[in-house]
Amino acid sequence: MGAQVHGTQEFNESKRAEIEFSDEAMATVQKLISNYPEGKQKSALIPVLHVAQAEFDGWLSPEVMDYVASILNIKAIEVFEVASFYSMFNLKPVGKCVFEVCQTSSCWLNGAEDIIKYIEKKLNIKVGETTKDGLFTLKVAECLGSCGTAPMLQCGASYHEKLTYEKVDRLIDSYKAEGKRRSYTDKDYKNTL
Ligand code: FES
Repeated sequence: MGAQVHGTQEFNESKRAEIEFSDEAMATVQKLISNYPEGKQKSALIPVLHVAQAEFDGWLSPEVMDYVASILNIKAIEVFEVASFYSMFNLKPVGKCVFEVCQTSSCWLNGAEDIIKYIEKKLNIKVGETTKDGLFTLKVAECLGSCGTAPMLQCGASYHEKLTYEKVDRLIDSYKAEGKRRSYTDKDYKNTL
């Protein structure tokens, strides 16, 4: 086992022993690693972390990061360095649906701040928090590359653009009705404009 990385969470040996990809996820991971030359498996780290995050409840625990390190034959701290750099990776438990509201220039000019406040009020949480029922987490993000259809938010692989309060209401209702964990690797993403 590599060096243990705690991040903001405690490393737990017995939890670590239980961490294992499903056969399907492992096949995806092996395919990702095979895209790179022998000895350069670290290059697959980011896509492998996406698979890991989707597989293990939407976040990367110290045990999951240690597991990923063992598969890529790198140090756990190398996994942590990458996972803690990108806002798309969660280092603490999150809700099934993570709303990432863009707050950069175009979105900000088009009312992102009001949308964030509206979601906070509607879900009764602040940015960075998760609803008591474990369904929603609210985050803010920097430009998500959809500036022409601002303001927008991302939830897993889905983009929801030209947001209004009414659209936010509909979004929350539909994700609630679905009750499903959303991730960046979803194939059934549902962009709305
Ligand atoms: S500024 Fe929001 S997507 Fe670019």
